Amino acid sequence: MIKILLSLLILFVSLDANEVNIYTHRHYPSDKILFKKFTKETGIKVNVVQANSDQIMKRLEEEGKYTPADLLLTVDVGRLYYAKEKGLFQSIHSKFLEEVIPSHLRDKEGYWFGVTKRARVLVYNVDEPIALSTYEALASEKYKDAILTQTSSNIYNQSLLASIISHKGEKEAKAWAKNVTDNFARKPTGGDRDQMRALAAGIAKVAIVNTYYVGQLLHSKNFSDKAVAQMIAIFFPNQGGNERGTHINISGIGVTKYAKNKENAIKFIEFLCSPEAQEIFTSVNFEYPVNKNVAPSKLLQSWGSFKEDNIELYKLGENNAKAVKIFNEVGWN
Ligand SMILES: [Fe+2]
Repeated sequence: MIKILLSLLILFVSLDANEVNIYTHRHYPSDKILFKKFTKETGIKVNVVQANSDQIMKRLEEEGKYTPADLLLTVDVGRLYYAKEKGLFQSIHSKFLEEVIPSHLRDKEGYWFGVTKRARVLVYNVDEPIALSTYEALASEKYKDAILTQTSSNIYNQSLLASIISHKGEKEAKAWAKNVTDNFARKPTGGDRDQMRALAAGIAKVAIVNTYYVGQLLHSKNFSDKAVAQMIAIFFPNQGGNERGTHINISGIGVTKYAKNKENAIKFIEFLCSPEAQEIFTSVNFEYPVNKNVAPSKLLQSWGSFKEDNIELYKLGENNAKAVKIFNEVGWN
């Protein structure tokens, strides 16, 4: 009898659950703060499943209509594009999101939305300044044995090359990738922070990294990482009059095709793009806001304002396969 009553109680609680279920690949303190804040403000419980990006995407695919996930939160537009192509998202409509997020940072049909922006920049050692200008210039002889970056399995580099394919065509993009590979100071290894550690150790002259990692090192509890960050200066490439601007990517989110809490999911995305949440993203995780009415944090402002490449981001997803092929062909491994 007690067992039956307990089952009924569990059934009643789950039917009545005011919740939203998120699959996320992000693992930042900013997000934990935001999940709590959302619950406090709306009474909607946030259940989070966290795993690496490929695992979480595979899980969503395999679960199909039985997935408990209402939202997929991930980084890089390449992944958001892939999730839409695979039919993992559904289209939603939100006047607020359409108003505050510039159109190139979201899917036109409402399948995914950027929640933060990140710039992929060049960094150098302040004690060893080096003349820098564009991504294209990195292909020049002048940077022989000077460049550090991640492997080509890294989606940030795939999207950077995809942007060059979009702007310059495949042929030029391939020549660029080949020459940059020839200019590597070492075989690509490690993440963006590792490139900066190597730069500070004098292994190379310039590294290609995402801006928020500079902020993360600067605020690290690790003394030597803090010291690394203090030795690093940021350079925003492609700023000249006729240049397209610095490469921008997003961290983004979409409502899953089989979401059982669709209304709550939309509320959650709107919350992430609200000024109060955007301010937390920019001050705690050092990312740029997508909401056009919110300013970057003081630290980000201290890095300087810059011209952004305003390419329609879906094109990076569209050119992802071509980018991967080029990387394999030129040996950027
Ligand atoms: Fe990252």
